[in-house]
Amino acid sequence: MKRITNDIYHIGVNDRNIDLFESQYPVPNGMAYNSYLIKDEKVAVFDTVERHFTDEWFSNIEEILGDFAPDYLIIQHMEPDHSANIMNFANKYPTAKLVGNAKTFKFMEQFFGDALADRQVVVKEGETLSLGSRELTFIMAPMVHWPEVMVTYDSKDKVLFSADAFGKFGATDTDEEWLDEARRYYIGIVGKYGMQVQALLKKASVLEIEKICSLHGPVLESEIDKVIEKYNIWSSYGVEKDGVVICYTSVYGHTQEAINLLRDKLSAKGIEVKTYDLARTHKSVAVADAFSYGKVVLATTTYNNEIFPPMREFLAEIKERGFQNRTVGIIENGSWAPQAAKIIKAELENCKNITFCENTVTIKSALNDESRAQVDKLVEEVI
Ligand code: FEO
Repeated sequence: MKRITNDIYHIGVNDRNIDLFESQYPVPNGMAYNSYLIKDEKVAVFDTVERHFTDEWFSNIEEILGDFAPDYLIIQHMEPDHSANIMNFANKYPTAKLVGNAKTFKFMEQFFGDALADRQVVVKEGETLSLGSRELTFIMAPMVHWPEVMVTYDSKDKVLFSADAFGKFGATDTDEEWLDEARRYYIGIVGKYGMQVQALLKKASVLEIEKICSLHGPVLESEIDKVIEKYNIWSSYGVEKDGVVICYTSVYGHTQEAINLLRDKLSAKGIEVKTYDLARTHKSVAVADAFSYGKVVLATTTYNNEIFPPMREFLAEIKERGFQNRTVGIIENGSWAPQAAKIIKAELENCKNITFCENTVTIKSALNDESRAQVDKLVEEVI
């Protein structure tokens, strides 16, 4: 339990046992399921926590309230990492009302049945709820990350309760910067919904925000403008980093040799280069950087008349998230019928504003003078 302002408390929990968040994202530093409590004349709790942390969460509430009961549970998001304890909360505090929008309660019925129907306070865009000395304003944020998501603004303390937005992987007691794991979280989980995030940023732009209380990661209390600017870049599919990211697969090391050559030549020209072996890096890491660099080189082999599986999966992931606005270079390797370049171009043909480099590198088994010269041309073109 941590006090954020005079009246606002963090009552969330840290999950250090989780292996994969959403059963797919590695979280080496754990995961935070945040929850907040405002103690005004009325008491409001924001969102519950994941199902394994019921006792710890109730104990955090009791540490602040003792035997008093909260008046409201404000439900900003129905995904189970935040909603799992709604029924437990409702049973423990039978006088508390549940605050959400129409979609919130539709999902609540799907998860929990209709037993809580008479406890609902249904709110719409811009509606307010008074807690006594402050009013909370509800702002709908559909598809950031589910259709029912809403965020809440407390104009007294100038706090935005932002649901999943501005969250990151990692427990709150992890000593790491917000940026890298916030980017991997955003691109991985919300990245497909850039337009909807832009809509939320537009609504938030008229608010004076001093703190952001997300459902994951730390309470953001400084450099709010910079954090919002990162979200603006990511959600508009803009270029965050200068340089080149090379995402590749290599079966026996020959494609890797071409990558090393390209990397060294670009680095010698002063270009920042990041490389990811897609068979040995979790895809969420490479995918996040494919959306942060403006120039992406893809290198892979022809395999079963297709492309090597980790590259195929990687392309599916970036397409799914609206990959666009990038320059793409290609290195292909094939011993008798190289066609990876053709397949990659076909895979990305429906992505918006992709410029393919004219110089494709074609390796037939191993680098030779001809393919080395192609690497030189690709270097010049990328620069
Ligand atoms: Fe943290 Fe979309 O739930």
